[in-house]
Amino acid sequence: MLEKEITQDNISLLVNNFYTKVLENEVLAPFFIKKLGKRMDSKVWQKHLTLISDFWYSMATGKGTYNGSPFAPHVQIEGLEKETFQMWLKIFFETLDEIFEENIANAFKERSSMIAANFMRNLSID
Ligand code: HEM
Repeated sequence: MLEKEITQDNISLLVNNFYTKVLENEVLAPFFIKKLGKRMDSKVWQKHLTLISDFWYSMATGKGTYNGSPFAPHVQIEGLEKETFQMWLKIFFETLDEIFEENIANAFKERSSMIAANFMRNLSID
């Protein structure tokens, strides 16, 4: 059954499933392993997962507590290319389709595409 509404629990599921796939993906995994290590059950990873869940819950509902700077850490990541972002979006979209019904998945797809386009523009790789 696909989810018909957004909750903190299904956002956490989205984020956990997404990064599980990321760590299995040869294009994306190295960037995350370099920064956060290999094990998603580590403290560093758990902190990241909580932060990103909060980010998406805040984005989607306006009710979360995320008030960071989403772009900032990406400036320090070396080797990001257009293909990296395309792969990021592909996997994020796949994960969305596994969890949410179409209208919710589409809203996240639009949001994430816009943010990725902004990141690329700011990194001068678009
Ligand atoms: C090209 C693919 C991307 C890679 C390799 C990547 C990698 C990373 C890494 C390694 C961090 C952790 C930095 C740290 O803890 O110091 C991070 C943080 C973050 N990323 Fe990405 N990212 C990518 C694309 C995106 C996109 C497209 C979005 C949003 C749609 C996004 C949203 C965020 C947010 C919200 C944070 C946390 C920022 C904060 O510290 O408040 N990332 N990213």
